[in-house]
Amino acid sequence: MSTKVNPNWRFATLTCHGSGGCDPTTGALVQPIYQTSTFAFKNTEHGAALFAGEVSGYIYSRLGNPTVAALEKEIAFLEKGEMGLAFSSGMAAISAVIFAFCKSGDNYVVTSPVYGGTHALGLKVIPRFNIEHRERPCYDLSAIENAIDEKTKFILIETPANPTVRLADISALVEMAKRYSILTVVDNTFATPFLQNPLELGADLVVHSATKYIGGHGDVVAGLVVGRKELIDELKLILHEVGGAMSPFSAYLLLRGLKTLAVRMERHCFNAMKVAQFLSYHPKVKEVWYPGLTCHPEHELAKRQMHDFGGMVAFVLKGGREEGKIFLDNLQLATNAVSLGDCDTLIVHPASTTHSSYTEQELFEMGMDPGLVRVSVGIEDYHDIIDDFAQAFHKI
Ligand SMILES: Cc1ncc(COP(=O)(O)O)c(C=O)c1O
Repeated sequence: MSTKVNPNWRFATLTCHGSGGCDPTTGALVQPIYQTSTFAFKNTEHGAALFAGEVSGYIYSRLGNPTVAALEKEIAFLEKGEMGLAFSSGMAAISAVIFAFCKSGDNYVVTSPVYGGTHALGLKVIPRFNIEHRERPCYDLSAIENAIDEKTKFILIETPANPTVRLADISALVEMAKRYSILTVVDNTFATPFLQNPLELGADLVVHSATKYIGGHGDVVAGLVVGRKELIDELKLILHEVGGAMSPFSAYLLLRGLKTLAVRMERHCFNAMKVAQFLSYHPKVKEVWYPGLTCHPEHELAKRQMHDFGGMVAFVLKGGREEGKIFLDNLQLATNAVSLGDCDTLIVHPASTTHSSYTEQELFEMGMDPGLVRVSVGIEDYHDIIDDFAQAFHKI
């Protein structure tokens, strides 16, 4: 990380150089991994002062760690927020948001579709605490507004949504939330700060499954949140007392991932457009979902809200689930696996995996064909991805 940052630098430069400053202890340019669980006090008075918050410093790595703190600073910088907070997974981050801002009797509204884990959390765990998860279609503003009542604490917006890559209008939902004096929380996992900055659109918090594009190499599970200090302080209480802290090594991997975020995202977007175009002309494909295609229902919104269209594509074969199975089982380059945002192309059948917490009826209600295939288009040479798809289509 360089010591000087020019505010006029573009995103790719900012990701490479970071927010400025070297490791304060050693001057190391690359953040060292402080692989320690605890930190020695100078004396008992110092220990007491640290616990009382009278002096700053490190106590214990669940409560804070220099490598993790360096990552929190970087993600806050790139998301243009005041403070960042790191979690052991995206789900730890999302559940902390729910527990920080809802108490028994409260509810939150979620745009649908949403990642299957967030759906399962809302339906299987959250009701035990007498908190209600209300899912409404991401494109239906009046349905979302009708779900808000005096006990609603926030709207959780996942856009682009997993797995259909439908979009929600962040600015419109922020405006709605402000009218009801509730928070807006944007799951920015699919977009990353390369493609959209929800805080600039007025959102209160951004959450990430950093497991995905932020890490970018499929070797870490992690979560991040960015927002104003007063909100991050509420989340810190949950993080510190419930747990779910990120390990220093995970933070190191994510700092490394952030350096190449811009170049990876550029290639993901370029390749995804090529794959989406190929699929949209293929005679065996019934429908393709990609925000960059003019036929996508939120294409105009995508042009307004995002700097590019992302690396995720979804499609349905004319032969539905059965043909999808043959296609997936015959791929040679693309790997049939959950997760996304890795360098290599990953492909999955959401209804039987990531979104198996949704019933057939719920899939129908959110307009998702049970045969839908989700592709996380990698950064390989796109010709090879398309050739692989073409040979698998021949096997049908
Ligand atoms: C959009 C989105 N949000 C949150 C999560 C959960 O993140 P994690 O698996 O890191 O807990 C995922 C996981 O796939 C996701 O796709």
